[in-house]
Amino acid sequence: MKHTVATVLRQKAEGNKITMLTAYDYSTARLMDEVGVEILLVGDSLGNTVLGYTDTLSVTMEDMIHHSKAVARGTENALVVTDMPFMSYQTSVYDAVVNAGRLVKEGHAEAIKLEGGRIFCPHIKAITEAQIPVMAHLGLTPQSVNALGGYSVQGKDEESGKALIDDALAVEAAGAFALVLECVPTELAALITSLLSIPTIGIGAGAGTDGQVLVHLDMVGMYARKSPKFAKVFADAGAVMKDGFTAYINETKAGAFPEERHGFCIDPAVMDALRKYAR
Ligand code: KIV
Repeated sequence: MKHTVATVLRQKAEGNKITMLTAYDYSTARLMDEVGVEILLVGDSLGNTVLGYTDTLSVTMEDMIHHSKAVARGTENALVVTDMPFMSYQTSVYDAVVNAGRLVKEGHAEAIKLEGGRIFCPHIKAITEAQIPVMAHLGLTPQSVNALGGYSVQGKDEESGKALIDDALAVEAAGAFALVLECVPTELAALITSLLSIPTIGIGAGAGTDGQVLVHLDMVGMYARKSPKFAKVFADAGAVMKDGFTAYINETKAGAFPEERHGFCIDPAVMDALRKYAR
């Protein structure tokens, strides 16, 4: 079944939890799509996880388009949502619409995600009016790392909690079809979820949201740096890969790989003829 904005909205109404994972390449997207992950997020976390930056700020539109295209090619059923990178929308509503359009036209995204609340409502409204669905993102918004002073849980006191509630209601009113809540206390995320008619998708926001998202390299033990505490390792593919790489080194050094069955045959007569040239 093809997942769309409409099916995702229906999932909230039916109480059917939404599953979203980040994807950055064709082969991983195919695996996720085959097992039925409903939304593939081409997250700008690719800056940290794939490109090796220490934050997401250096990620460009070209990076996002390149990876979004690859994910879209590997996806049949999931909804492909692509992140708007830092400074692709903050500069103006016009830039926001143009760059959202590029992610759809060139990156084959089916929806875009952007970070921020009330101040970005004009951007959300304009992109939505251009017929591009918008997923909003509140709480810990990694593109604001320098303004926030680090990566920490958001909305822990009354003032910041109220601001989060107001932002959530505002992005819904501006036309967002879903909202990511990152690093928000469990009870506050559940309260926001109950106030909205659009689905919330949590990461480090507890079990009371309408869905969950994880950075896939965290949840398969493949992120080379320290993963956050909410990132459960569901399968340690990183350890399995290291075992494979080590076995490859050992067998190659010992001459045990490749075996005869890994090579290709040649007609013995051709080989005899070729031996003439070896002096
Ligand atoms: O870029 C990303 O991976 C994200 C998720 C953490 C939601 O925005």
